[in-house]
Amino acid sequence: MLEKYTSNSVKETHNIGFQIAKLLNHNSIVALSGELGAGKTELIKGICAFFKVDDFVTSPTFTIINQYIGEDNSGEIIIYHLDLYRIKSTKELEEIGFSECIGDSNSIKLIEWSEKADYKLKEPDFAIKIFTDDIDENKRIIEIKKKI
Ligand SMILES: Nc1ncnc2c1ncn2[C@@H]1O[C@H](COP(=O)(O)OP(=O)(O)O)[C@@H](O)[C@H]1O
Ligand SMILES: [Mg+2]
Repeated sequence: MLEKYTSNSVKETHNIGFQIAKLLNHNSIVALSGELGAGKTELIKGICAFFKVDDFVTSPTFTIINQYIGEDNSGEIIIYHLDLYRIKSTKELEEIGFSECIGDSNSIKLIEWSEKADYKLKEPDFAIKIFTDDIDENKRIIEIKKKI
């Protein structure tokens, strides 16, 4: 399943993230790709808002993996927010505990720069690509591919 959305503002991107969150379960992997400043973190903010995360960290670029505690109607939910921007090799990826993290079956995994882990993330539950627009700096095309 492939869906395409147009966002014309940060708020709309948050809303799209909020809607995506409703489709996730306690073991979902969401892979996000798109250039720097595309809006991956903003979309993730929308996902985390749905789960009432109140300690959202704008970008885990320096720590690479952040953990949030959220909630849904079945109770507490653990969310991992990964940003692989600085990862240069599969060795580095393994050193930060990437495999253990995505292998954790009781948490949501939200992964920015997922293309850096393509070899591991063959089929994420949701593959999201965000495209900027050459003319309108507030416009984004958000492509969502759901695993069948
Ligand atoms: N429609 C939009 N959706 C998301 N971000 C937007 C949009 N229009 C402008 N922006 C801006 O683009 C930037 C996106 O930043 P961020 O989410 O951190 O990108 P990424 O995580 O992909 O590097 C922010 O500065 C935001 O204000
Ligand atoms: Mg980011």
